[in-house]
Amino acid sequence: MLGQTARGIENGLWKYSWSGARAAPLDVTDEVSHVRKRCRHADYVDLAVRRLEKGIFLVSADRTKTNVMAMAWGSIGFQWSKPVFIAPVRTTRFTHGLIEATGEFVVCVQPPSMDDKMMQSGSSSGRDHDKISDLGLKLFTLPEVSVPGIEGSLITYACKVIHKASAEPRSNHTFFFGEILGTYSDESLG
Ligand SMILES: Cc1cc2nc3c(=O)[nH]c(=O)nc-3n(C[C@H](O)[C@H](O)[C@H](O)COP(=O)(O)O)c2cc1C
Repeated sequence: MLGQTARGIENGLWKYSWSGARAAPLDVTDEVSHVRKRCRHADYVDLAVRRLEKGIFLVSADRTKTNVMAMAWGSIGFQWSKPVFIAPVRTTRFTHGLIEATGEFVVCVQPPSMDDKMMQSGSSSGRDHDKISDLGLKLFTLPEVSVPGIEGSLITYACKVIHKASAEPRSNHTFFFGEILGTYSDESLG
């Protein structure tokens, strides 16, 4: 990511400074404007990958239910000349069935102030709970897919599955290759 440097961990949270054209200094701990703009998928990859290491939101939905889970594995890059987010989802997850059913998912990179909610979304299943409601998450619609994004996210990737592959025998995950049809960044990222 051009102009982005990690400054270190302060209070257990990664902080970033931004230089160059885009950039007033950014503290990703609190400054979320709730105003989104469309951007290129590669614009905030460094930030997305650093947040992924701790865990980010993976949103899925069918006609009756929207669900969210924590995801700490994944990759962003290019496959078949398309921008792709590869989401590894264990076959036992409720999320797995939703993605299989619709062929769509949304990845939301939350600010650190929402990390607790992300962690909670990884400790119960949408089979038993309405996690969106329980966690007080607000949703917004995306033009590219029927799955919504989560309000307050720093970065949102709207993805359509173009390929899937089993991770067996290494683990019981399916790699969902989602073509990134739209990327949105919070205005606070500059
Ligand atoms: C920080 C964190 C990261 C996680 N990363 C993944 C992941 O990359 N893939 C996965 O299948 N499950 C992952 N999980 C587990 C799921 O989030 C968890 O099993 C969740 O309850 C599944 O919800 P669901 O049944 O509603 O889909 C993670 C959990 C946590 C707490």
